Amino acid sequence: MTKRELSALPKLGLHGTLLLPGDKSISHRALLIGAISNGETVIKHFLHSNDCLNTLQAIRALGIDVAQHGADIIVHGKGLHGLKQPAGPLDMGNSGTTTRLIMGLLAGQNFQSELNGDSSLQKRPMRRVSDPLTTMGADIQTTAAGTLPVKIVGRSLHGADIKLQIASAQVKSALILAALLADGPSTIIEKIPTRDHTERMLRKFGANVQTASDKLTITVEPQPDLKGQTITVPGDMSSAAFFLVAGTIIPNSDITLRNVNINKTRTGILDALLKMGADIQVHELASQGEPVANLRVKSAPLSPIKLGEEDIPAIIDELPLIALLAACAHGQSTITGAQELRFKETDRIATVTQELHKLGVPVKELPDGMIIEGQPVWRINDPILDSHGDHRIGMMMAIAALRSTTRLSLNEPEAVSVSYPAFFADLNSLLNQKRECDLT
Ligand code: S3P
Repeated sequence: MTKRELSALPKLGLHGTLLLPGDKSISHRALLIGAISNGETVIKHFLHSNDCLNTLQAIRALGIDVAQHGADIIVHGKGLHGLKQPAGPLDMGNSGTTTRLIMGLLAGQNFQSELNGDSSLQKRPMRRVSDPLTTMGADIQTTAAGTLPVKIVGRSLHGADIKLQIASAQVKSALILAALLADGPSTIIEKIPTRDHTERMLRKFGANVQTASDKLTITVEPQPDLKGQTITVPGDMSSAAFFLVAGTIIPNSDITLRNVNINKTRTGILDALLKMGADIQVHELASQGEPVANLRVKSAPLSPIKLGEEDIPAIIDELPLIALLAACAHGQSTITGAQELRFKETDRIATVTQELHKLGVPVKELPDGMIIEGQPVWRINDPILDSHGDHRIGMMMAIAALRSTTRLSLNEPEAVSVSYPAFFADLNSLLNQKRECDLT
């Protein structure tokens, strides 16, 4: 097993400016929607991470020509009915987003296909997508446990009205993509609003996808004539979050993060940090697509926080970081209504609890969350931390290690490449420089 020595407390803090890598959710969608549009889609600032490369390989296997020009990705889309039967099973790697969105995209095609993935992905639930797709007439077979491998027998779909049982942008997006191929309009009703990148991007490509004023009801008109577009992917808030937290909890820090997506369905971490007392300035930039901003963060003392079910979708991927912030705050924090954390790349309630215990932080595991007792000073129980093969746990623990005065190490650090291959290089650049920040 690979192991990496982590940096301990930097006495002078973290300093410098980062241009964040492209948003993972938006990079996946640009490839998939580009593939079913007519003509060329140019993707700028695409996230070259393992998860997004799984989507790229999958659309190639479905007969789509994808080229790279410099840093740009060019997708030669073939329209809504232009995908071809793949020669063998499609490899989804570690990527839940690729799997669920592709299930929606392939349900209404006129060919069969099979999806498989790595050992983590093979444990994750897929009936949450196949069940609602069945109400549109889809034929999708999972294992008896409702997991991969999944067989999709493409067939014509009906428009349907579907009320979602769980708050999941992946499930919603799969249904929207399937609804594009149906024989009539569909309505999808969410439980709590989730990230809306699919709806925004489809509108840009020419689809008639409406979101009602309740922000929960989405209507989709089928058979749109989608036209290739140029997409500039904004920086990923979920990657920026590691440095927003690092800048807050490491004394004497001052970090600027450039060009970060501040779509309201993704800014739960920003709202939570500000509520806890963080010192963050937001400088919004002009943009033609998703809203973006430069963010400047300086160290600050933290108060505890309480998060419940309604807060979860906008902060779902950052909840491990909330647990870390809570571990540094003065008092008790609680996270509830977050049972979805158990179905991520790892069971993140279990892995976060286990790793924070190594740092001497009392965490009580709940079925749907955690109770965390903040400790201004940690008494390290175990210096060998573990990513558990989960990118976000690995990055969270590398940030946590910066609070320790003794050096800690991390098992399976390479997991970070799922969403942020340059994570350690970016972190090192903040440890090694003391530069003026410029927010504009
Ligand atoms: C994603 C949605 C979220 C998130 C995942 C990416 C997306 O999953 O955790 O990292 O791109 O739609 P759920 O919608 O299933 O919670």
